[in-house]
Amino acid sequence: MTVVEVGARDGLQNERRSVPAAEKIAFIDLLSRSGLRCIEVTSFVSPKAIPQLADAQEVFAGITKVPGVRYPVLVPNAKGYERARACGADAIAVFTAASEAFTQRNINMSVEKSIAVFSAVVERAKRDGVWVRGYVSTAFGSPFGDAVTPEMVRDVCVRLFTLGCDEISVGDTIGVGVPTQVEAMVPLLAREIPLERLAFHFHDTRGTALANIYAALQAGVAIFDASAGGLGGCPYAPGATGNVGTEDVLYMLERMGVETGVDVDAVRAASRAIRSSIDHELTSKAFQAMEAAQARETASR
Ligand code: HMG
Ligand code: MG
Repeated sequence: MTVVEVGARDGLQNERRSVPAAEKIAFIDLLSRSGLRCIEVTSFVSPKAIPQLADAQEVFAGITKVPGVRYPVLVPNAKGYERARACGADAIAVFTAASEAFTQRNINMSVEKSIAVFSAVVERAKRDGVWVRGYVSTAFGSPFGDAVTPEMVRDVCVRLFTLGCDEISVGDTIGVGVPTQVEAMVPLLAREIPLERLAFHFHDTRGTALANIYAALQAGVAIFDASAGGLGGCPYAPGATGNVGTEDVLYMLERMGVETGVDVDAVRAASRAIRSSIDHELTSKAFQAMEAAQARETASR
């Protein structure tokens, strides 16, 4: 089972307070010591669109890359690809959505146009030996009320996969999905894309993320995105809150006897470090429980 850590990107893109590059680097370096094998670092997007990640170059160059860990960065277009490559990135993520309204607001393109833009980016990436993830957002619903069907999601996933993406991450951007939808969606996608290339990315806006992960797991999915402490959200999806917490996913999988190779205490140490850089509490329930248990232990000494 692979947990893809997205806190430094999905989490920090949505923070009100801007986190200094050095604190992002310290956070990512702690995550790198936890056994995670894939850590999304930042986004080479327009700094006008996401000012929180305007320091992408400094952060990417500043982290200590641990051998065997993949460090993808988000890339929305050729300019982003060039910026990412200029600082040595060898893994990228392109991102579009099932919802036309969301795609337009998020990347100022239609879904069709985004596929054309990413076709050129992925072609270059393949030539350069760069690993590519493809995100399909709003898979269970759009923040703008336009209808999204599982067939629309499948079609966009297949298009990205056909371009040459190595992995497809299906995103519940606004956390509206429920396990029965996940159960129905996995076989639909698995008819077109090998299960081992499919990831799910659940935001926990309505508390259904862990149940959705369990449903996907039962259906054979083995890659899940999560963010340390439950950081996250998308500034272009009103009301979107954090990703499912990495500690929550690790707690559940570990207790179910599912091997991830990740040390939950090391992730918690990273969450603690980033907590001092942001202006709110972390939402991960497992993180909170571990902190509370430690506080009780300290008080009883
Ligand atoms: P645009 O305004 O249409 O772009 O934005 P443009 O090509 O017309 O360029 C406008 C300006 O931006 C120009 O600068 C460009 O140089 C610059 P100016 O001449 O005005 O000074 N520019 C760039 N600068 C740096 N890096 C770049 C870049 N590209 C253009 N790569 C664009 C289109 C796609 C660029 C913009 O809309 C954008 O950056 N969007 C990113 C939005 C974003 O990052 N959203 C969050 C990530 S998606 C997400 O969170 C969902 C996910 O987690 C999964 C899920 O939850 O479902 C992945
Ligand atoms: Mg997200």
